[in-house]
Amino acid sequence: MPNILSAKQFKKEDIDEILMRSQKMEEQCASGKVEKILQDKIIACIFFEPSTRTRLSFESAAIRLGAGIISSENAAANSSAFKGETIEDTTRILCSYADVIVVRHSKVGEVEAASKVSTRPIINAGDGGNEHPTQALLDLYTIKKHMGRLDNLNVAFGFDPKHSRTIRSLALLLSHFKNNHFTFFYANRLQEERFEDKKEFEKYRKILVITRDLVQDSKTLILDPLPRIDEIETEVDYFPNALYFDQAQNGLYVRMAVLLYVLGL
Ligand code: CP
Repeated sequence: MPNILSAKQFKKEDIDEILMRSQKMEEQCASGKVEKILQDKIIACIFFEPSTRTRLSFESAAIRLGAGIISSENAAANSSAFKGETIEDTTRILCSYADVIVVRHSKVGEVEAASKVSTRPIINAGDGGNEHPTQALLDLYTIKKHMGRLDNLNVAFGFDPKHSRTIRSLALLLSHFKNNHFTFFYANRLQEERFEDKKEFEKYRKILVITRDLVQDSKTLILDPLPRIDEIETEVDYFPNALYFDQAQNGLYVRMAVLLYVLGL
């Protein structure tokens, strides 16, 4: 039973397979002929931290494939975790109700703890400042779609490498491909929620903003897992190399492929 807990778990062949399946999902969505492979399945989305893209794209992916959804979008307040139930007990219960469990948690280690007691595949939808492996898969899919390759890339990781789970997972996945060079720099969106010292957050805030002037003569692809706060000027959105909305849309196709992958379908 494959869980998706970390980008570290993937071999290159797994990545290639998921990206190939994602492309197939994109083609099926474009033609309006998505096979309802999951029509007898139920997907649980349990989010202890806020989310727009990850939760809703997983839910959309499940529905497009014919599955049902059970969901707690504010599980810290609205599930029995609020009363002190452990993630292990919550997971044991969910295993009776769903075929796949998608979990986001603010605390590193909780998604892994869920996986240790689960009899169903667990997908890490972001665990604190640790990892966000399905975001990294959709980032790869977006890069491949626009560059035609995943090797020989110069990748600059900004927006808060110290606290960013999306950067950690993406760097791990890109490491499978030859001759990629990474640069890490501090910029927005700083992950305010992960700063223990708010003064440190204010110190780095707006240190660098991606502006129209910065990108207008550049062919560099601009990706951002979003949400965007103030790290990219909205005027940048109209440049063809601004890929972040396409990236979020690709999340749907990749998460369709991921659901099939964990179910062995
Ligand atoms: N990229 C990402 O994880 O977005 P959400 O927090 O909206 O899910």
